[in-house]
Amino acid sequence: MPRVRVHQHVNPLAPYYRQSSEPIDIESVFAEPDRPLLLDLGSARGRFILRMAEAEPKWNYLGVEIRRPLVDEANRIALGENLTNVHYEFCNAMLWLEQLIKHIPDGILQAVTIQFPDPWFKKKHAKRRMVNAELVQTVVDKLAIGGRIFVQTDIEFLAEEMFELFRVDKRLKEIAIATNPFPVKTEREKAVEDKELPVYRAMFNKRSQG
Ligand SMILES: C[S@@+](CC[C@H](N)C(=O)[O-])C[C@H]1O[C@@H](n2cnc3c(N)ncnc32)[C@H](O)[C@@H]1O
Repeated sequence: MPRVRVHQHVNPLAPYYRQSSEPIDIESVFAEPDRPLLLDLGSARGRFILRMAEAEPKWNYLGVEIRRPLVDEANRIALGENLTNVHYEFCNAMLWLEQLIKHIPDGILQAVTIQFPDPWFKKKHAKRRMVNAELVQTVVDKLAIGGRIFVQTDIEFLAEEMFELFRVDKRLKEIAIATNPFPVKTEREKAVEDKELPVYRAMFNKRSQG
């Protein structure tokens, strides 16, 4: 099947992307909603969680992506593979993540991945970056104690900006990692590695409720 064609970037502050997201009901999207959940923010074509579901089938996986055609395509693929533990949601995470995940019961969200998230390198576009202080707070609030957050990018100054947003949250402890601890690489990670470019990574563990 040909891959759906999409704009390379969309402006998250444009009116269309300011529309709010409905809270997700995990009872209706996953066959076994009580399983631990991994949330992948900026899931693009969604292949990371699709392959994670093969590697670690006892988890549920939720991909969140702003480009709607990619979400529809990824849900079609997951359905075609009869996966009842993989789901994708259209959402502008920089504005509406809190609304999207607010009904997920406490203790379920055990891992969050944010991988190569930002196309917005220029200073004048900094407000369009997905990882902002509000998103970090939402993620840490919902994360279970003991849960992990994994962040990686090939853009050094964006890595530092993102890592710092997590480092200031006293509920988190940074864990030193030299390599990607997950058994699956995203499409962007593979592309960056093929070019032999460096990747900046950080892992955080939630140790207290605050
Ligand atoms: C460079 S791609 C990386 C995709 C994938 N994580 C990977 O590593 O291959 C960044 C993705 O984040 C998505 N994204 C950017 N801003 C977003 C936002 N505010 N909310 C949800 N997704 C967003 C983009 O549409 C794009 O699919």
